[in-house]
Amino acid sequence: MKKFLILNGPNLNLLGTREPEIYGADTLSAIEAYTKKKLEQEKVELVWFQSNIEGVLVDKIHHAAALNFDAIIINPAAYSHTSIAIHDAIKSIKIPVVEVHLSNVHKRESFRETLLTAKACVAIMSGLGKDAYWLAVKSQL
Ligand code: DQA
Repeated sequence: MKKFLILNGPNLNLLGTREPEIYGADTLSAIEAYTKKKLEQEKVELVWFQSNIEGVLVDKIHHAAALNFDAIIINPAAYSHTSIAIHDAIKSIKIPVVEVHLSNVHKRESFRETLLTAKACVAIMSGLGKDAYWLAVKSQL
């Protein structure tokens, strides 16, 4: 049984009501349930976590190996575009990290073109909506 940590960054706790025309109508809990259903045939345990605080996400990344996670799927949200700290945390661990975005960040404001955390990840998915999560997990099984 593999164990994956699914990390979600700032404002993703507001999914469902936050700009649904961009992010869809599902809450983060609904996306978690959808992802688990999509992967029910797989031998994988998913542990979901959301924080609005950069340092809390950094700590989660640091502790992932000690907690026996095989991979991390991360939606760093706005920190994708600003956080050298999360970039460096991802670089400092050996387990693979896949970055996901619900929206296609390349079709949006120009400030979303800067993707700092993605430079430290093995792969990035952007624009596939909630399907990005289970597809990202599949990519590392
Ligand atoms: C996002 C895209 C980011 O630019 C934005 O700041 C988010 C969500 C996405 O999932 O599409 O909060 O990561």
